[in-house]
Amino acid sequence: DTINRLNGKRVVITAGPTREAIDPVRYLSNESSGKMGYALAAAAAICGAEVTLISGPTQLTPPQNVSRINVISATDMHEAAMAYAEKADIFIGAAAVADFRPEHVASTKLKKKIGEEAMVIKLIKNPDIIANVAALTPKPFTVGFAAETNNVDQYARDKLTRKHLDMIIANDVSRSEIGFNSEHNEVTVFSEYDEIHFPHQSKDRLAKALIQTIANAFQSAMDR
Ligand code: PMT
Repeated sequence: DTINRLNGKRVVITAGPTREAIDPVRYLSNESSGKMGYALAAAAAICGAEVTLISGPTQLTPPQNVSRINVISATDMHEAAMAYAEKADIFIGAAAVADFRPEHVASTKLKKKIGEEAMVIKLIKNPDIIANVAALTPKPFTVGFAAETNNVDQYARDKLTRKHLDMIIANDVSRSEIGFNSEHNEVTVFSEYDEIHFPHQSKDRLAKALIQTIANAFQSAMDR
């Protein structure tokens, strides 16, 4: 009964990194490959969902039966996410969104000044996409990720509460064999009601299991 579990449901997933421009040829970004989010999109589509994948810059091809929206910066991703989240049943934030962006983006390539040994780039806060999605009324069933290097479970639970999420998927990104830009992951899923550990496995296999867990929790929330 896993096929068609999400028939007709609208699922919006963010994936990949964001790029925050410094000047026309430089940016701040991170190591996210998009694999986790793309695997979730593929798994949700297999379950019959109508999937919109809002993707930062990645090397990946979109999965079958998934409609992909390409974005670059956190500001772009925020705009696309808010537009699609309003009609979504389930929203999953797998993207590694930059928390800050340069306050000023130079319109021409920054040049070294003679004698200059340091330069300062002031960063300002980006919108918190998933927190803004979770603040919608009505809101989609909202699932976040927590990428942590220490106190993984505690910080994940804090984010679940602070961002008013329905569920959070915690990964320990201090381990190089899982998390950012690897083929595998190992996660713990926290909700108000329970905690489920998913052992080390490929992101494709894990995504299928996570979509089942999300579909179950979504169904229970609908039934309440
Ligand atoms: O892309 P891969 O190489 O496959 O790697 C997968 C991954 C490690 C990127 C993924 O599993 C993961 O953990 N994604 C979330 C990364 C992250 O930015 O986590 P965070 O703990 O900083 O953010 C918590 C949640 O808030 C996330 O759902 C994030 O998408 C969301 N967020 C964060 C900041 C922001 N401004 N807006 C957001 O929506």
